[in-house]
Amino acid sequence: MTDFKIEKIKARWIIDSRGNPTVECDVISNNIMGRAAVPSGASTGELEALELRDKGNEFLGKHVTKAVGNVNNILAKELIGLDVREQELIDNKMIEIDGTNNKKNLGANAILSVSLAVAKLAANLKNIPLFEHLYELSYNKTRKDYLLPLPCCNILNGGEHAGNNLSIQEFMILPVGADSFSTAIRYVSEVYHVLKGILSKKYGPNAINVGDEGGFAPDLTLTRDALNVIIEAIEERGFTMGKEFVLAMDAAASEFYKNGKYDIDGKVLTEEDLLQYYVDLTKEYPLTSIEDPFDEKDFLNFAELTKKVGNSIQIVDDDITVTNIKILENAINQGAGNALLLKVNQIGSLTEAIKAAKMSFKNNFNVMVSHRSGETEDAFIADLAVGLCSGQIKAGATARSDRCAKFNQLLRIEELLGENAKYPKDFKSWSNFQ
Ligand code: PGA
Ligand code: ZN
Repeated sequence: MTDFKIEKIKARWIIDSRGNPTVECDVISNNIMGRAAVPSGASTGELEALELRDKGNEFLGKHVTKAVGNVNNILAKELIGLDVREQELIDNKMIEIDGTNNKKNLGANAILSVSLAVAKLAANLKNIPLFEHLYELSYNKTRKDYLLPLPCCNILNGGEHAGNNLSIQEFMILPVGADSFSTAIRYVSEVYHVLKGILSKKYGPNAINVGDEGGFAPDLTLTRDALNVIIEAIEERGFTMGKEFVLAMDAAASEFYKNGKYDIDGKVLTEEDLLQYYVDLTKEYPLTSIEDPFDEKDFLNFAELTKKVGNSIQIVDDDITVTNIKILENAINQGAGNALLLKVNQIGSLTEAIKAAKMSFKNNFNVMVSHRSGETEDAFIADLAVGLCSGQIKAGATARSDRCAKFNQLLRIEELLGENAKYPKDFKSWSNFQ
């Protein structure tokens, strides 16, 4: 009989994909380990759980020794001896010890590192894949077949993730016409390389420098120019828009919202103008998903856009809901959006993230599991997307190891599942898969 009691917890700092320190944690039992690392955002929502940074001289204020110390000196003592399968109990205990709404005492980065490592250790001790354990945790049952996520791949970067003038932060391609996850990744990779050639030819060698999420960051200003060049690449590779591929964007509009107006495409737009702008774009382009189209406090315009185009298009809530069930409930009640972007570090514990996903599905909101722009080699979110049967994942471009770690883990999961790996076909059917 395996003993599932936590014997040791040890956190440390490591370096993330942007070269900033972040927290990694090992949780150990029976000489078996669960290890997890915490990601970090750049275009963060104001109401996200607090990422504790030292604010001293080291790493220009960004060091995380306090968060690491909080794991090693406070949480470790309290959690040793607990059953690692009791995810909710462990997460609740950490939340209680922290004692604040936004985890500002211990740091969401401290708490999350333990929370994710606990889940990994439980899977390892149960001797089952992490995604299977996450499914059991989420839905209290077991299953054979799993939904692999549609990879929403950000191949052209703007906003806070790039040094160009594009206001829209992410331009994504969605390989909806692939028949499997591995084919989907191949399609995206082929388009990525064709896009590289086109950008270099059109705009010169500097245009193929990449942004934080591995997508190219050409010196463009106009949203339509970015969409057009992506379509050119998709078609040059021999794919048909609307068949193999559709498009998606993360506007991350809070970042270009200034003095009540939106600064986009070299123009200053009112909220009414911006609403019309999105409606026009959805008519001109095969755009199926728009994330954070307005400032994160503007529930009304999120709802207005959802009313106008939400029947056929996903309006994804990221900075507006920050994976927080209280705020999500508000968004659901107001009809603000119809999909949740799920980022574990926005809320700071696995239990709360799972609750947000379940609340979404229950209310016919889709769920897109997401990375952050600052990532590590940790591929937890790959297993989470499969374990939740979310149907979609956002993990950047099919380039740079911090992004590929997630896609590669999904390739392994697909191989492991064999014919029990399902690939999603259309947005509508996903929320019924759990
Ligand atoms: P972030 O960007 O990780 O910098 O917040 C990702 C997103 O906005 O979805
Ligand atoms: Zn976003």
